[in-house]
Amino acid sequence: MERDGARMGRAPAVRKEKGSAMTTLLVTGGAGFIGANFVRFVLRHRPGYRVLNVDSLTYSGNLENLTDIEGDPRYRFVKADIRDAGAMATLMEEADAVVHMAAESHVDRSIMDSTPFVQTNIAGTQVLLDAVRKSSRAGRFLYVSTDEVYGSLPLEDKTARFTEETPLAPNSPYAASKTGGDLLARAYHHTFGMDIVTTRCSNNFGPYQFPEKVIPLFVTNLIEGRKVPLYGDGLNVRDWLHVDDHCEAILAVLERGRAGEVYNVGGNNERNNLELTHAILGLMGRGGEMIEYVTDRPGHDRRYAIDASKIAGELGWRPTRSAWPDALRDTVEWYKANAAWWGRVRTGEYRRYYERQYGPG
Ligand code: NAD
Ligand code: TYD
Repeated sequence: MERDGARMGRAPAVRKEKGSAMTTLLVTGGAGFIGANFVRFVLRHRPGYRVLNVDSLTYSGNLENLTDIEGDPRYRFVKADIRDAGAMATLMEEADAVVHMAAESHVDRSIMDSTPFVQTNIAGTQVLLDAVRKSSRAGRFLYVSTDEVYGSLPLEDKTARFTEETPLAPNSPYAASKTGGDLLARAYHHTFGMDIVTTRCSNNFGPYQFPEKVIPLFVTNLIEGRKVPLYGDGLNVRDWLHVDDHCEAILAVLERGRAGEVYNVGGNNERNNLELTHAILGLMGRGGEMIEYVTDRPGHDRRYAIDASKIAGELGWRPTRSAWPDALRDTVEWYKANAAWWGRVRTGEYRRYYERQYGPG
């Protein structure tokens, strides 16, 4: 299954440090949900990699996500904002490749205030791209984008899927800001010939997800005996992918993807929110009386569905850890077993956000 650049007649995409067998990967946003899982995944599966985790620790960045690897000599954390051009220029001189996933990531927050979304997801991406462009060392740049750049599919046509050729039509301020970063990455490849690859992934689930996103929000509410706030009619569809499958896809594209190309990443695991909610309720031993139907999200995308045949065909990647009910059950169990982690998260800034979004309760 594994194909490498050399066998395909290309130079390896990820450079090594001069005079060393090691590669230093600069990961932005490594203290967030996907970032922390990715940093851990790389250290576990790539003994030849060092990881430099650059994160400004916004409300969703949490170093407690990484306590088990703090002492690893191949890992270093630097607290810095990706919009800080001077800091990024310095850090690029230590990096052989960049995986950029720092972002403002929550659609509902982008509806309340899109300012930090534009600043981090567009302007921050531009700062990073310029830092790589001017760097004497940094090579390949991978932009972690999202399937939300494609907008929404109708519920009626069950066969429709987003391909890499689907026109970009983002609907939320979050999606629009991610599209801005995505298009900047495309333009820097086209204009400057930079070695840039992009992944567009569907909804992730797994450990350490900030409990404002639907799965950890619903599970932790139920553990606390609270109802789960389901938006609108609950028929919106998402394609759920386990975060470890996403991490493997990012590594596959980083190491073997073709420069300038976009790769869709999906779980082939479509569920509507009502099905998702009942699956969670079943795993938690609760019933439909725990659902509270609340006002729909403005502009709520109806359906996301990914055609991931390009990454499967070119790079041999397929999801192997996303199948339900097992993957969902393991995730629910993780939140049950890690109440201390999310308990601390929920007492902070998160409480104030919750009250603004759903009202006091
Ligand atoms: P997250 O909110 O859990 O983590 C984001 C991280 O970025 C945090 O650690 C935060 O501190 C950091 N960050 C934010 N602004 C920063 C700045 N200006 N400078 C430095 N660090 C900053 O998000 P996530 O769910 O882990 O998503 C990670 C990436 O994956 C994002 O780019 C997101 O758009 C993309 N993505 C997420 C999903 C998903 O389902 N979660 C799906 C597809 C793509
Ligand atoms: P979310 O986890 O915010 O991810 P995204 O909006 O990026 O897909 O939401 C997933 C789905 O769950 C989405 O259709 C909105 C819905 N949802 C609810 O019904 N209630 C909630 O409280 C939240 C946060 C989301």
